[in-house]
Amino acid sequence: MSDQSVAPHVFIILGATGDLTRRKLLPALYRLRSQGVLSDDALVVGAALPDMDLKEFRAGVYEALQAVGSHDDKELRRWCDTCLYYQSLKQGSPKDYETLVEYIGALERQRHLPGNRVLYLALPPTSLPGTIEGLGEAGVTRSHGWARIVIEKPFGHDFPSARALNTLLHRYFDESQVYRIDHYLGKETVQNMLAFRFANPIFESLWNRDKVESVQITVAEDLGVEHRGAYYQGSGAFRDMVQNHLTQLMTVVAMEVPVAFEADAIRNEKLKALHSITPISTEDVVFGQYTSWQIKDHPIPGYREEPGVPADSTTETYVAMKMEIHNWRWQGVPFYLRTGKRLPRKLTQIAVIFRDAPTHLFRSLVPGSIRPNMLLITLQPSEGFSLCFSVKNPGRPFQLSPHALHFAYEKAFGPLPEAYETLLSDVLTGDQTLFVSADFTESAWRLYSPLLKGTMPIHFYTAGTWGPDEADRLLLQKGHQWQLGW
Ligand code: BG6
Repeated sequence: MSDQSVAPHVFIILGATGDLTRRKLLPALYRLRSQGVLSDDALVVGAALPDMDLKEFRAGVYEALQAVGSHDDKELRRWCDTCLYYQSLKQGSPKDYETLVEYIGALERQRHLPGNRVLYLALPPTSLPGTIEGLGEAGVTRSHGWARIVIEKPFGHDFPSARALNTLLHRYFDESQVYRIDHYLGKETVQNMLAFRFANPIFESLWNRDKVESVQITVAEDLGVEHRGAYYQGSGAFRDMVQNHLTQLMTVVAMEVPVAFEADAIRNEKLKALHSITPISTEDVVFGQYTSWQIKDHPIPGYREEPGVPADSTTETYVAMKMEIHNWRWQGVPFYLRTGKRLPRKLTQIAVIFRDAPTHLFRSLVPGSIRPNMLLITLQPSEGFSLCFSVKNPGRPFQLSPHALHFAYEKAFGPLPEAYETLLSDVLTGDQTLFVSADFTESAWRLYSPLLKGTMPIHFYTAGTWGPDEADRLLLQKGHQWQLGW
């Protein structure tokens, strides 16, 4: 969100040979360079365990970038040859981290850089503590410029582990130097929700318990766990999606107006919304797991048949839950959240469902034809907003039908930036608005602790359906149903 310029720096990627680096980070950095955001004074140092030479690293990056987009060959080669560096971490011992820090220092001297450093930890959770300590003890923050550390999710796997990770980070970094990534916050629509809500008084005046009947947040994926079975076993849908992505979306919908358009003000309001959630009863939560299905000749394996998953796994691949926010704005308005793998299609959508008209004028005229007014905020597959309402059909008999006003971001503005592009550029300009604070991550884990003890019953659903029936029953208690658009 910041429009400050990017200072010369070294961007150090720990986990430089991994999937995230190849698919997301390097392409995003290269796009920022192509747009002129980054110059020749922005170097990238890859660090990982493999003992490869610089030529091999540069060739690998070149290939990876060509695989994810069409680039000007000459420019890409020039970037690889002049801005990319590699240092092996060998065993990952304290000495290896010292060697890395010396290597960065030597590069900075050679290229006359001021010592600004981004440390991006694109690593599995188990490697985080050792890496933070290794870098910290090797004195990576003792340069003449600034140092910022970026951490990928999952940030801990429960409240104690998240707190321990924060304590360790704060031993070497001030909170203002820590950037916890939740890539959902980099999606254009999430940022635009702030504009939508706070720059348009007509919507803000409807955004409360007097006018809103319920809020639904759906993050549905059609894919299964693919090759990530082993990781997913230790995580499950709750830790993988709800504790972070869905909770972030929910607090952006629920937060109060911040006093300023600044990182601290916005993050504080989100935190206040999170703190206002009443303790969640296990009865208001449904865990599910997909079973196999066959579409024509194409068999879809159940979760228990996926590689790396035990045949008796009770890990959830689906979560639906009801939450209540105990504050002046939202008291009594249920927030329904759901996410799952192997659902019918990919859809990320927030539905704000408004209260019915207080009269029964048209209900008696054309029974069943009235649908509630809804605001649908779609993040995927195509970002945009739809405001849904009823209109009279022309002529006789008198009938109503549902219609919508649509706003599609790409139609209005052309291709949108990729989430990582936005987030990396914010790291480089020092804007923490779209990053998760230590307090937020700890509070979210604390709120969800009772649901993470491994005691929730699992309800099975067939791959390709919208999840277990119990998830529908959760809404029926209040006469609601899941909305899937207009
Ligand atoms: C990741 C999860 O954080 O988000 C994945 O680990 C999930 O399991 C992915 O598939 C979804 O992201 P997106 O942007 O495709 O909705």
